[in-house]
Amino acid sequence: MMRLREAFKEQFLIGAAVNPVTLDSQRDLLIEHFNSVTAENEMKFERLHPTEDRYTFEAADRMVALAKANGMGVRGHTLVWHNQTPTWVFENEDGSQTDRVTLLARMKSHINTVVSRYRGELYAWDVVNEAVSDSGSELLRPSKWLDIIGEDFIAKAFEYAHEADPEALLFYNDYNEADPVKSEKIYTLVKSLLEQGVPIHGIGLQAHWSLYHPSLDNIRVAIEKYASLGVKLHITELDVSMFAFDDRRTDLTAPTEEMLALQAERYGQFFRLFQEYSEYITSVTFWGAADDYTWLDHFPVRGRKNWPFLFDAKHQPKPSYSEVLKTV
Ligand code: XIL
Repeated sequence: MMRLREAFKEQFLIGAAVNPVTLDSQRDLLIEHFNSVTAENEMKFERLHPTEDRYTFEAADRMVALAKANGMGVRGHTLVWHNQTPTWVFENEDGSQTDRVTLLARMKSHINTVVSRYRGELYAWDVVNEAVSDSGSELLRPSKWLDIIGEDFIAKAFEYAHEADPEALLFYNDYNEADPVKSEKIYTLVKSLLEQGVPIHGIGLQAHWSLYHPSLDNIRVAIEKYASLGVKLHITELDVSMFAFDDRRTDLTAPTEEMLALQAERYGQFFRLFQEYSEYITSVTFWGAADDYTWLDHFPVRGRKNWPFLFDAKHQPKPSYSEVLKTV
């Protein structure tokens, strides 16, 4: 069987998100087909730095060591995010909200500790995740980071990360990245960071897509727009859900032939598009590796089994895999 990593080696890295369970249960598949890994959760703030004076690096270190031993790169995810960040970060000892100076110092110390630890071992970091607002006219979503520090929390995060590892590629990462309104905001944010001389090197397109959404056209327009900024683009969390976002059906125990065929068609279109823009797109990471485990089994509908990847639950290639290989 043709290895994905081999098939795309002239174009981009092929990555998978992993966790401590899949690192074992999917090990053979990961090593065969992928040349990049990302921690699904283990490098997030709450996992690495649960209390102010304690860092927990074991799970992340184990992933980095496995990647290294098997010639895989590592993408870091993520330093500053409104989710999965412990409350102590934003609070004083008495539980009241902390101030700008304190929060900036905490941010700097977290970023410096984490990024320095993996300096030279990670090729890229998602420095800021999901800071742009999905709705309304405001650019940034409400968050403690924004509330307490102000809009320059984003620029500061990139500056601290760059100081800690001047070689790492630094990314702004977001979802709904192909939505016409949100992509305009993401573009505006990154453009303004570049104009301020902030060390940002790329935009991460999460690419949580489905059989139905977004349209190929919207994706192309967004990629064009981002590429026009002259930054790198990484596809960071690719999965293709079998369901419309709000489909609440939970009775399916296997994908239908029709779903498998549609998914293959979508994946084929996506990979043809990625190759058209391979001058910009240098890494394509799936948010998992095979259908035995996906966060989509619990999101956004609890207990709705999903089958978003190129490999089935037994790690065998699906029609989507064949279609993707045909695009090379
Ligand atoms: C998800 C993980 O897959 C889940 O295990 C966790 O419970 C929540 O976070 N956007 C991101 C990722 O940037 O970090 C999220 O990962 C999925 C959406």
